[in-house]
Amino acid sequence: MREITVSGVRPTGKQHLGNYLGAVVNFVKMQDEYNGFFFIADLHSLTTHPKAADLQANVRQTLIEYLACGLDPDKCTLFAQSDLPQISELYLVFNMLAYLGELEKVPTFKDKVRDQPNNVNAGLLTYPVLMAVDILIHHAVKVPVGKDQMQHIEMTRNFGNRFNHIYGVAYFKEPFGFTYNDNPLSVPSLDGAGKMSKSKGENTVIYLADEPEVIRKKVMRAVSDSGPTEPNQAKPEMIQNLFDLMGLVSKADTLKHFGEQYNGCTIRYGDMKKQLAEDMVNYLAPIREKIKELSSDQNYLNKVLREGGEKARISAGKTVSEVREIIGLKSH
Ligand code: ADP
Ligand code: TRP
Repeated sequence: MREITVSGVRPTGKQHLGNYLGAVVNFVKMQDEYNGFFFIADLHSLTTHPKAADLQANVRQTLIEYLACGLDPDKCTLFAQSDLPQISELYLVFNMLAYLGELEKVPTFKDKVRDQPNNVNAGLLTYPVLMAVDILIHHAVKVPVGKDQMQHIEMTRNFGNRFNHIYGVAYFKEPFGFTYNDNPLSVPSLDGAGKMSKSKGENTVIYLADEPEVIRKKVMRAVSDSGPTEPNQAKPEMIQNLFDLMGLVSKADTLKHFGEQYNGCTIRYGDMKKQLAEDMVNYLAPIREKIKELSSDQNYLNKVLREGGEKARISAGKTVSEVREIIGLKSH
C-alpha cells in the first residue's frame, strides 16, 4: 500500500514560477510514489470572501495549471474541496475540539486580522481546523507544503491526537510536512529582493500563463545596478537573484558565460536579461501551450473534477462514517 499524501492550494488566481518550482513539481514527483490527493481549497478561499465569478474562474484556472504542470488524474486524485460535503461535516466535529486560545495565537490568523480588519470572520479563526480536516479525512501521513504552513500541520497532529484521546481510540495518524529537499528551493523575485511572490506586485512575478512578450517586458525591467567595478566582486542580492533565476531556466554554459563576464567586469545586464528572458520563454513554453490547449476543453476539465470528486468522496465518506460511529452519533 502506498503512503497517502494530501495537499491543497487556495484558488487565488494564476500560479507563478515560484509556486511551480517550489510546490507543484513536488506534487508531480509524488504522484508516482504516493497515493496523492491534490485539491483546490475553494472553501478556504471563502474566508476572504471572493466574488462568486472570480472563485469559479480561479478554481478552473488552478486546475488547468495543475494539469499543465504534469499532474495526471490517472496517477493521483484531483478535486475541488467543496465537492466533498464530508469535509464540512468533519469540520463541524473538529471545531468542537479546537480551543479559542490556540487558534488566536496562529501567526497566519494574526496576519489576516491585520490585512482585513473589517472582516475578521470565524472562518479565518478556524482556518487551521478546516485544513486539518482536509488532511485527516484521507489519513494522510505526508503533506507537501511550504515553511509557512508547518504550524498548521503541527495543529493537525494536535487535533487528531486530541480526538484520539477524547474518544479513547487510535484512529487518526500523525501527518508531517514534507519536502524532497532539506533546503527548499526559493525562486527569487524580479524586484531585486527576496522570493517571488504575487503579494509584491504583478511585475515582479512570472506567471506560468504569461505570454512571451509579457515575460520579456518583466525580465527586462528586473532590478539591477550599474555593474561591478572590481574583478571577482561579491554579487549584491539583486544581481545574485538574476543569476539564480538563470540557474533555474538557462543552460549551465550560459550561466558560466555571464558569471565570467561579471567577474571580469565586462558584463552588460541588458544582454544578460535578454538571454534570461529568452530562456524563461523557452523553459515555460510547454506549460504555456498546455494551458492554452486545456483552457478550451471544458468537458475534459469537468470530467477530471467529477471523477476526482467521486474518488475523494469514497475516502472521505469512509472516515466520516467511522467518526460518527466512534463519537456515538447514530443515523435515525
Ligand atoms: P505567494 O507568495 O505568491 O502568495 P503562495 O503563498 O500562494 O505564493 O505559495 C503557494 C506555494 O508555493 C507554497 O507551497 C509556497 O511555499 C510556494 N512558493 C511560493 N513562492 C515561492 C518561491 N518564490 N519560491 C519557492 N516556492 C514558492
Ligand atoms: N493553507 C494552505 C496554503 O495556504 C492550503 C491548504 C488548505 C492545504 N488545505 C490544505 C495545504 C491541506 C495542505 C494540506 O497554502
